[in-house]
Amino acid sequence: MQTNGSSSKGEDLNFEAIIFDAYGTLFDLDSFQSEAERIHRGKGKEISQVVRQKQVEFTMTRDIIGKYVNFEVLTRNAIEFAIKKAGVRRTDTAVEKLYSKFLSLKPFKDVVPVLSDLDELGVRVAILSNGTQAMLDKLIERTGLALLSEDVISVDGAKAYKPNAKAYRHGLDELGIFEKERILYVSANPWDVAGARAFGFKVGWINRTKQPLFDEGYYEFRPEFEFSRLDQVKELFE
Ligand code: LAC
Repeated sequence: MQTNGSSSKGEDLNFEAIIFDAYGTLFDLDSFQSEAERIHRGKGKEISQVVRQKQVEFTMTRDIIGKYVNFEVLTRNAIEFAIKKAGVRRTDTAVEKLYSKFLSLKPFKDVVPVLSDLDELGVRVAILSNGTQAMLDKLIERTGLALLSEDVISVDGAKAYKPNAKAYRHGLDELGIFEKERILYVSANPWDVAGARAFGFKVGWINRTKQPLFDEGYYEFRPEFEFSRLDQVKELFE
């Protein structure tokens, strides 16, 4: 674990809860790539990259222009775009097949042990995601994480997407916690890290792919903590 200098491990952080982002943080988007590859040989990588890129772009654009539609719709839109771009005939069946794979992403290998250790330490664990409640419930049910996360919160309740402050505010309100700095928010997505930090959470960036630098564009919102493995998160609660 690395700290950015403004916080240190020894500091009395006294967190009330830890909130994880879902897609790319707890759930591995590469598992969507391999499923896409099984369905459309030679195109899995392109399809999954375009789906992710378009999902993020659609949420941000819609949030900025103030025309919210939920993440199920935007995920299907992203899949439609990606398969057309990859030269696959766009049929409802082709879209639904990939969409159903998005509902059964695998958690990263370290997720179950870390969540169970946090549970043992008595830490309150939550998830805050752009996904709808139905999408998240399905993921959690399929991966057996149900017992380990007390609070699964969708931004849909606020009709605002992360990194909009309203989405993080919704998470805080749902948890019934008043002080933002008593939350440790953990995400792999730099735009989400920046949003959570700008909102006022303490933030950990899980940098599994060992990116050399946090995004320069939001440097002042760089994370207080950087983890290369998820189990390092526990050090802040021991
Ligand atoms: C999430 C995605 C966007 O909110 O990472 O779970």
